[in-house]
Amino acid sequence: MIGKINHVGVATPSIEDSIKLYRDVLGATKIGEKFSMPEQGVWVCFVDLPNAQIELIEPYGDDSPIHGFLKHNPAGGQHHICFEVDDIIEARDAMKAKGARILGTGEPRIGAHGEPIIFVHPKDMGGVLVELMKKPSADH
Ligand code: CO
Repeated sequence: MIGKINHVGVATPSIEDSIKLYRDVLGATKIGEKFSMPEQGVWVCFVDLPNAQIELIEPYGDDSPIHGFLKHNPAGGQHHICFEVDDIIEARDAMKAKGARILGTGEPRIGAHGEPIIFVHPKDMGGVLVELMKKPSADH
């Protein structure tokens, strides 16, 4: 049911420092502008790779969900992996039917790509925080 890897979410205490790593050390050439998603409590910046993206996320505000992660991983680290699905409601219902818990309200919300997303509980995903995202209509 899952499709392509859309992006890997990487939490960082500083998007600026992470950009230096991806641009200057790893040689990535397509790096977007940093933008805020106040409702999600994150700053976001996309690094475009030939086959997927890295989604850099930095805490925004005091109650950002990223603070807890950075407390355990002060230098930052891999936070989640995002797979594309054709139908987000169908995917959500299939996850639930198979016993996997959906984080939050259980209803899809609009993610950083402007597409509906859900997060599946890492305890039901082998320790990996899994984001499912409706496949974007136009390939990027
Ligand atoms: Co993501």
